[in-house]
Amino acid sequence: MIRGKRILLGICGSIAAYKAPHFVRLLKKEGAEVQCILTPDAHLFVTPTSLATVSQLPCLSEFTHSEDGTWNNHVALAEWADVFIIAPASANTLAKMATGRCDNLLLATYLSAKCPVFFAPAMDLDMYRHPTTLTNIQTLQSFGNTLLEPGTGFLASGLEGKGRMMEPEEMVEGLKSHFELAQSLNGKHWLVTAGPTYENIDPVRFIGNYSSGKMGFAIAEALAHSGATVTLVSGPTSLQIHHPNIQILRVTSALQMLEACLSVFPHVHGVVKAAAVADYRPETMATEKIKKSSEELTIQLVKNPDILAILGQQKTHQKIIGFALETNNELEHAKQKRLKKNADAIVLNSLNDEGAGFQTDTNRVHWVTENGCESWPLLPKEEVAKLIVQKIVSL
Ligand code: CTP
Repeated sequence: MIRGKRILLGICGSIAAYKAPHFVRLLKKEGAEVQCILTPDAHLFVTPTSLATVSQLPCLSEFTHSEDGTWNNHVALAEWADVFIIAPASANTLAKMATGRCDNLLLATYLSAKCPVFFAPAMDLDMYRHPTTLTNIQTLQSFGNTLLEPGTGFLASGLEGKGRMMEPEEMVEGLKSHFELAQSLNGKHWLVTAGPTYENIDPVRFIGNYSSGKMGFAIAEALAHSGATVTLVSGPTSLQIHHPNIQILRVTSALQMLEACLSVFPHVHGVVKAAAVADYRPETMATEKIKKSSEELTIQLVKNPDILAILGQQKTHQKIIGFALETNNELEHAKQKRLKKNADAIVLNSLNDEGAGFQTDTNRVHWVTENGCESWPLLPKEEVAKLIVQKIVSL
């Protein structure tokens, strides 16, 4: 999986940098091309000569070559890479990455990188659990960067705790799974729905809900990163998509969402219905703004079509993943929804789980299939999306 892959390795000033030549050696044995970039302080812990020897490429650190003044083109370096892995990632570099600082070659390359980025923090336990570090890590994850979780054990300070850089062997395994997953949905076309729907009352008012669209957008991105072509049907949200393999169809109401879904459903291999569709809409939309002339106002609502159930009835070869947002008797309701709507799996959110649901950057979900229920921990929505895609691949 790693043979022929171009790996950019960023190394920061942390004692764990002494493991970098070993990491490079493992990657080279797997057949990868490895280009090392050092921050200025990384030189204190590992020499460019060692890294250049094992990687068989000059080790870069400065914006320009000191002898002839030529430029180390960070944009070209970023474009060259299939992945960028920053290991060890110091607290200082994490903070700069999270805030867009750009005062060394590693950071300029990071800002230019469009490839998947992995980072392996290494620092003392108190630095790691400091709120600023944890916030920076969360911010980087929200950018779609992947955390290579540090281990717990003896640290250079003599203390014991969390902060040891992930072992090079484990990082190699992580990269192998990444490249495996990156091709796992090649040639597949998936439909994803996201966001709320707005049901118009009059030209200036609507019935809506608090869905941000973040979960659906993250799933669309994760599917595209696994090689799939994605059609994303989204209700009103300000979120943007950047992956070239995602086509976005923006809609407003449930009826428009149904129409957009039906137009692509016959051609897709599967659908993830993360949208929070309004169950009811006003029977009629007033053509003029409703004036507050009477003491009471009654709006007659009619039921919207259940898009998921309709797709479930029409499915031939497609896999269907639905969502369920519940407040009580959660698992039982989710199981019933899966059967009633003919879905292969339901992603269950409970509003009783802290950090789950609407308007948050995190989610705690349960994966419900005919084989039972698997509960996942509280994670950033991007990480939940990756887990859902792993499940989709195994479906
Ligand atoms: N859904 C849909 N069309 C609707 C309502 C819901 O496609 N008109 C989909 C959602 O996108 C989600 C799943 O159905 O994937 C479950 O949505 P949820 O709101 O949890 O359940 P409902 O079916 O609306 O049932 P209830 O509100 O009674 O719990």
